[in-house]
Amino acid sequence: MNDRRIRKAIFPVAGLGTRFLPATKSIPKEIMTLIDRPLIQYAIDEAREAGIEEFIFVTSRGKSALEDYFDESPALAAELDRKNKTELAKVLESTNMDSGAIAYIRQTRPMGLGHAVWCARRLIGDEAFAVILPDDVIAGQTSCLKQMIDAYQQVGGNMVAAMQVPKNKTSDYGILGATDTSQRIVPVNAMVEKPSPETAPSNLAVIGRYILSPDVLSALDGAGLGVGGEVQLTDAIAKQISANGVYGYRFEGQRFDCGSKAGYLQATVAFGLAREDLRDELMAYLYDLVPSQVLAS
Ligand code: UTP
Repeated sequence: MNDRRIRKAIFPVAGLGTRFLPATKSIPKEIMTLIDRPLIQYAIDEAREAGIEEFIFVTSRGKSALEDYFDESPALAAELDRKNKTELAKVLESTNMDSGAIAYIRQTRPMGLGHAVWCARRLIGDEAFAVILPDDVIAGQTSCLKQMIDAYQQVGGNMVAAMQVPKNKTSDYGILGATDTSQRIVPVNAMVEKPSPETAPSNLAVIGRYILSPDVLSALDGAGLGVGGEVQLTDAIAKQISANGVYGYRFEGQRFDCGSKAGYLQATVAFGLAREDLRDELMAYLYDLVPSQVLAS
C-alpha cells in the first residue's frame, strides 16, 4: 500500500454546540441544515470526494439523531418510488453509506478537540488519517480535503488547512508561524492556539481540516489541558514540527464558520445563491431588502 494513502477520517462531533443554544438542547449542531442538507452531509461528501473509505465519528450524549441519519430508509425510498418522485429518490440514495463504513465512538466528557481525536486512536491504528470538523463548510471547485491529500502525497509530514484572517481575529484560531506564508504549501515553524494579535506569529489560521500522522495520537496520550481548559489538538500537532514536519495548506475555496451564527447565516445565503432552484427568488428578496437596510442603518 502507498504509505501516503489516506483511508480514514475522524469527524469529531461530540462538542456541546453552546453557541446554538437552545436549538442544540435536542438537535446536534451537525444535523442543522444548510438549505436542505445537514452540515454533516457536506463533510461526508467532501471526504468521499477525497477517497476516504472509513468514517469515524466521535460522538457524545444526545447525538442519536446524527447516528440515525446514516441509516437507510427503505420505507421512505419505496414511497418515493411509488409516487414517481425519481429526483428525490436519487437525493435520498446519494446519502446512503456502505454497511460497516461508519464507526461511532464515544467521548464521555467534552474535554476538547484534541481529546475527541484521541478517543478514536484504536480505530486509527498506525496509519496517517484525516480529521474533518463539520462546522467548517468549504465551498470550492475541488474538495478541500482532496486538495490537501494531493499536496500531502508530495510532501508527507502533517498538514493543516490554513487561511489568512484579520490580525484582530487571531485569538479565535490556532495560528501558524512560518518564514514564508505566500506559497500554497507553507512549512510551519510554530503553532500557537488562540494567541492575542500582539503575540500571534502571523495571521495564517488553522481551520477544520487536518492530515495527521499517528504520532499525533501518541502525543495526545496523557496530554494536559491547554488554552480554555481543553486538550488542544494544536499543541499535539506542534510537537510534530521538529519530528515529521507540519505544513499549512492554503486551500482554494471559501470557508464558512457554521459553528457561529453569523457564519451559518452567510453560508445559507451563499449556498442559496449558488442553487439554480433558489437563486432568482433569493436574489430578488436581497435586492429589495439590502438597500433599505443600508439606508436605515
Ligand atoms: P467547537 O469549538 O466549535 O465547540 O468544537 P462546540 O462544542 O462544537 O461548540 P460551541 O463552541 O460550544 O458552540 C470544534 C469541533 O470539535 C468538536 C465539536 O463537535 C466540533 O466539531 N469537539 C469539541 C468535540 O468533539 N469534543 C470536544 O470536547 C470539543
